[in-house]
Amino acid sequence: MYHAKLDRFPNDFLWGSASAAYQVEGAWNEDGKGTSVWDNFVRIPGKTFKGTNGNVAVDHYHRYQEDVALMAEMGLKAYRFSVSWSRIFPAGKGEINEAGIQFYENLIDELLQHQIEPIVTLYHWDLPQALQDAYGGWESREIIQDFNDYCVALFKRLKDKVNYWVTLNEQNVFISHGYEQASHPPGVRDRKRMYEANHIANLANAKAIQSFRQIIPNGKIGPSFAYGPAYAYSSNPEDVLAAQNAEEFNSHWWMDVYSWGVYPKSVLKYLEKYDMAPTMEAGDEALLKAGKPDFMGVNYYQTATFTASPLDEEFVNAKENHDGKKGNFVENGNAGLFKRKRNEALETTNWDWEIDPTGLRIGLRRITSRYGLPVLVTENGLGEFDKLEDNSTVNDDYRIDYIRKHIEQLQAAITDGVDLLGYCTWSFTDLLSWLNGYQKRYGFVYVDRDELNEKELRRVRKKSFYWYRDVIESNGEML
Ligand code: BG6
Repeated sequence: MYHAKLDRFPNDFLWGSASAAYQVEGAWNEDGKGTSVWDNFVRIPGKTFKGTNGNVAVDHYHRYQEDVALMAEMGLKAYRFSVSWSRIFPAGKGEINEAGIQFYENLIDELLQHQIEPIVTLYHWDLPQALQDAYGGWESREIIQDFNDYCVALFKRLKDKVNYWVTLNEQNVFISHGYEQASHPPGVRDRKRMYEANHIANLANAKAIQSFRQIIPNGKIGPSFAYGPAYAYSSNPEDVLAAQNAEEFNSHWWMDVYSWGVYPKSVLKYLEKYDMAPTMEAGDEALLKAGKPDFMGVNYYQTATFTASPLDEEFVNAKENHDGKKGNFVENGNAGLFKRKRNEALETTNWDWEIDPTGLRIGLRRITSRYGLPVLVTENGLGEFDKLEDNSTVNDDYRIDYIRKHIEQLQAAITDGVDLLGYCTWSFTDLLSWLNGYQKRYGFVYVDRDELNEKELRRVRKKSFYWYRDVIESNGEML
């Protein structure tokens, strides 16, 4: 669809930026915070790039005022951040840790004073270790109540200050990396357990949304889904079918449940055949159906391109690129369903992520057609090496180019009819990239630290900082 003239961004469009607790806060054991699964996982040798951890991260916990002042200077309309569950309930449940919740209240007050809309993510992967130890975390139905209690505590405390809430960040990522690829905690490789844990996470998501309706009836809530729209490698119908398989297994499997409370039929039938289907108990379907979100949160980084894969195909384990040395792509997939190929039409980042702004528009269109829900882009951005020049600036024209092209596609999507609430870039300051250390940078604000040396953690405005400020000020006119 080509348009002679594009619609404008709505006047109340949420020009935002995002972060997550473990990646920015530091203060991992301060003010009564309990240990999270990530606090421990990063200590296992070989799990993260150069053994990096978030003990200090970028010290947002102590420097939040300075960071919010920078957001205000930029004119940011919204800031998405996550709450660390083990700051609120150090053992995952029980008594509220007042000092922990106070930190978030202070941060929110600071944002509101500067007219920045807080978008609160309830879960961005840092599960309290105590719940992992007590009953296996996401593998036990006990977590549904505990997660609900934690969410309700936050809803009640923050209901007059926070309108926008995100339930689970990238359930598809933390479940598949945690239980299939073993690259996130709890480091399991077992697809049967993965589908069970995923079902329980779906129930927890739905229950939290159900509670939200009672406590904050006028607020808005939804999950953040890591959506990588599937493309067919060629027009060969076998490849088209492989892409459809990938879309159903990798995306509809989650988004159908969020939106409608039902699993896609073909995937469910396949899993039943291989004895991997999740256990459905009485009342599950009703709960899933009661958890309809107000918007689909979308974290978009790239599309994925697929070709057919025969039943007897064998895949080697995909070698992950965590050091920024380009050219590591290995074909991988699911025998009998699909095989992922490099899309030669697209450039990649140094971490081998394909750069595809049009894919964002395609994804937003697919969500709009299938679910009819408003969309909030909760993450999008470029992880790259940055160079601090003259100790005072970073000329990150590549990041400006990346974000500009994605914003252009947002505007086209709005013109197509997508109901888009806002756009949060990933990220505001540089931060810890879970498995890739500190050298894979995403921010508008450079933080002067590296993997081994925290230095002074000085904040430096990058060129993209000034550019995004102008984009916001002109409501997307000056790109
Ligand atoms: C998303 C996560 O998967 O992508 C973020 O929600 C993460 O927490 C971001 O940092 C970028 O991924 P990475 O692996 O480059 O840090």
